[in-house]
Amino acid sequence: GTTLGASAAEKGRYFGAAVSAGKLGDSTYVGILNREFNAITPENEMKWDATEPSQGRFSYTGADRIVSHAQANGHKVRGHTLAWHSQEPSWAKPMEGSALRSAMVNHITNVATYFRGKVFAWDVVNEAFADGGSGGRRDSNLQRTGNDWIEVAFRTARAADPGAKLCYNDYNTDGINAKSTGIYNMVRDFKSRGVPIDCVGFQSHLGTTVPGDYQANLQRFADLGVDVQITELDIASGSNQANNYATVVKACLAVARCTGITVWGIRDSDSWRTGENPLLFTSSGAKKAAYTSTLNAL
Ligand code: XIL
Repeated sequence: GTTLGASAAEKGRYFGAAVSAGKLGDSTYVGILNREFNAITPENEMKWDATEPSQGRFSYTGADRIVSHAQANGHKVRGHTLAWHSQEPSWAKPMEGSALRSAMVNHITNVATYFRGKVFAWDVVNEAFADGGSGGRRDSNLQRTGNDWIEVAFRTARAADPGAKLCYNDYNTDGINAKSTGIYNMVRDFKSRGVPIDCVGFQSHLGTTVPGDYQANLQRFADLGVDVQITELDIASGSNQANNYATVVKACLAVARCTGITVWGIRDSDSWRTGENPLLFTSSGAKKAAYTSTLNAL
């Protein structure tokens, strides 16, 4: 293929980008999006603060714009994200206990029901594990509602949208380490007890090196019986950026259940990693060496 999306499709995968609704009027941005990608993740528009700005009042304006754009161009949509400690609306931040648990369940039910049939996968829970060596959960108001909050979130999402793939998504989980092993143990437990989980997302916000066991880590999760996806890929600039992109792509293609790759933005100027130039296109929209190595690896 001559584009990222077409080349990935030849291998039975998708190649997506995180998209901001506010940039859909930028012709350079939209030109690259429509030409190169065949999947979209809303960068912020499906998060809790965006979709339920006051309790019980749902707002889907930004998300709808992205979904409409995706549908008009034949792009798949990855839903991101239903339950996350960050970007909670201000009304939820001070909540705790059963009131917060009920609010989370109501939120998941409303959002997943609204987008039923429009998203192929949901990041049901995002970033629930702690960094460092504990392998345990991150502290948050959601975690303090009880350790079962994650499985409740997954069961709620399944009931609301039985057709969507339900994913757990996190960062610093790209190699085999205490954090990824903690998640691995949770997924194994969920599969053994019938908690509905279909996929694990690896954000892959990477520095100047790709962990040597990146592919082995994807494979061990796939071997549990879930799909794996690279969900928010961006890689620090520097002499290895192009090679590192190729390494990630080859790792995904080498794992049968690695179903797709999403980069977290289009041009370097679109990246949340300000000044790091971690993406595939320059700020003026030109293809970088990292683009060419990615395309060649697909
Ligand atoms: C980031 C967005 O890119 C920014 O625009 C926003 O200000 C903060 O969130 N992990 C995630 C993503 O799961 O939702 C985050 O996106 C980046 C880290």
